Amino acid sequence: MRLEKWAMGAESTIFKTEQWGYPIVLKWRPQKPYLLKDIDELLKKTRTNRECKMLTHARALGVSTPTVHWTDLENYTIAMDFIEGRQLKQLASTLPESRLREICFEFGQSVARMHRGNVVHGDPTTSNVLIDTKSRLWMVDFGLAEWNATTEMKGVDLHLIRRALETTHWDQQEVMLTATLEGYVNLLGSEAEPALSRMDVIRERGRYH
Ligand SMILES: Nc1ncnc2c1ncn2[C@@H]1O[C@H](COP(=O)(O)OP(=O)(O)O)[C@@H](O)[C@H]1O
Ligand SMILES: [Mg+2]
Repeated sequence: MRLEKWAMGAESTIFKTEQWGYPIVLKWRPQKPYLLKDIDELLKKTRTNRECKMLTHARALGVSTPTVHWTDLENYTIAMDFIEGRQLKQLASTLPESRLREICFEFGQSVARMHRGNVVHGDPTTSNVLIDTKSRLWMVDFGLAEWNATTEMKGVDLHLIRRALETTHWDQQEVMLTATLEGYVNLLGSEAEPALSRMDVIRERGRYH
């Protein structure tokens, strides 16, 4: 079996391989040297388990996520469909503004679909949004996702989006944030209001701490 190192995330290594002739990826969470072994193992197991469930749950809510083929909790590994494409993080600066707006609008809609089902992503950065070769948008990295989400948790998710755009895409942040929130409101209508106001409250709170 050919195993190609495809990407390094903050907490995982992504290998590309094949299963029955189809490209898949293995997301493997290696040991973190700075954590106690027991804590590290517990965290990795919880996140692997959570990610596998949430990838599927989010898809049921209408969000495009790679299909999970199998999970090996003992080895902290998830096998899922390979998405042939690039991170929104890498693409953003290469796109015309109109296309960037469309993608962010769709990103906002995807987040809204999760929130409508009371799921939060937990790490909604632009490196966890993939655009495939057919221009389709996919969400990945659900290890910190949670269900039974409250307004506060949804507000935090939106706050994290705003912060990620400010720090990673400072020269395009306005266009990107506006389009993302437009997509969010487009899908949720007046139901978007509580989480949107909470996003502002959370930012103000952060300023005084
Ligand atoms: N199913 C996939 N197909 C293609 N690339 C992927 C897939 N899953 C993850 N990646 C790539 O690997 C990177 C890291 O994966 P991610 O799940 O975000 O791990 P981490 O939790 O370590 O950030 C992603 O940003 C993306 O570029
Ligand atoms: Mg990631």
